[in-house]
Amino acid sequence: MIDIQQSAHAYSLQQDIVQTEEHRVLCFREDVLGGLQSYPKHLSSKYFYDTKGDALFQQIMNCPEYYLTRCELEIFRDQTSSLIAAITNARAQSFDLIELGVGDGIKSKYLIRELLDRKIEFRYLPVDISGNILSQLETSLSDLQGLNLVSLEGEYFDMLREATKISDNRKVILFLGANIGNMSAKEAQFFCKDLRSMLQPGDIVLMGFDLKKNPHTILDAYNDKGGITRDFNLNLLERINTELEGNFDLHRFTHYQTYDPETGACKSYLVSNIKQTVIVSGTSISFSEGEWIYMEVSQKYSLKEIEKLASHSGFSMITNFTDPKRWFIDSVWIAQ
Ligand SMILES: C[S@@+](CC[C@H](N)C(=O)[O-])C[C@H]1O[C@@H](n2cnc3c(N)ncnc32)[C@H](O)[C@@H]1O
Repeated sequence: MIDIQQSAHAYSLQQDIVQTEEHRVLCFREDVLGGLQSYPKHLSSKYFYDTKGDALFQQIMNCPEYYLTRCELEIFRDQTSSLIAAITNARAQSFDLIELGVGDGIKSKYLIRELLDRKIEFRYLPVDISGNILSQLETSLSDLQGLNLVSLEGEYFDMLREATKISDNRKVILFLGANIGNMSAKEAQFFCKDLRSMLQPGDIVLMGFDLKKNPHTILDAYNDKGGITRDFNLNLLERINTELEGNFDLHRFTHYQTYDPETGACKSYLVSNIKQTVIVSGTSISFSEGEWIYMEVSQKYSLKEIEKLASHSGFSMITNFTDPKRWFIDSVWIAQ
């Protein structure tokens, strides 16, 4: 095992995928202009997470309506031993614990602390597109003595590829917080197949899914009374103003949330209150009155759909963990 007792922020072995700031802005501009010049207009939710977006998402997680984090936290706090039994194997092999889209990592910290207490050999590789949130995570994990930590700043699969170059240890992938829900059902299928193709038989995936439930409960979670989810969405327009010389007037857009219980798709939009033209990086973008920008999906699943997703992408579901209300599931899969 390579011994990397360090907090290697933005760790990257290959120059070709090191994202320079210039390259990052170029991709951001291309995606934003492509999305705003399409019909219907859309933006990618991966751009929500700048420093302000990270802080707003942390506020969302504390909103009374946003049950997802509390449910998953209950699972990690109250079923830590069973989670460990599900991700470790009988040969007590040392493993790489790779967390995709880690955010503030408050749930995983329960697992990590217990693994360390039991002296189980592992390395923790948190991945996130936001360098800011990784720095916060490193600070929050600094009290965990003996943690072998390698932070990876970048896109999910770019960083997973980097992680596989660091070692060929058995891999346990955490993908928590219903991040998978931020893909359409179709995109999730492609994602899981791609994920499987980067793993070896016997590797483990622990994935968090928000379950289908009372549609009012779901819609309320994304329509919080305090308007934090609205501000989180509007913040992407603000980011475009700052980073891409945009001139969005945030007061001219309204947050609109929908949930379709039949498909399980909960979608966020920003709607133009008036006919208007916005400039982004010197390009004019026209909006008619009432025209919307599709911002994000938060896809909800049934247990059957999760099982199908696992088996269609080359995994077997081995066990599931739910909270007492049965609103959220952490599903454990093994690569076949
Ligand atoms: C909804 S938050 C969830 C965070 C965490 N998994 C949790 O359970 O609280 C999504 C996180 O994934 C990160 N993220 C979003 N898209 C990403 C991508 N394409 N590659 C890497 N990280 C991404 C964001 O920066 C953010 O921290």
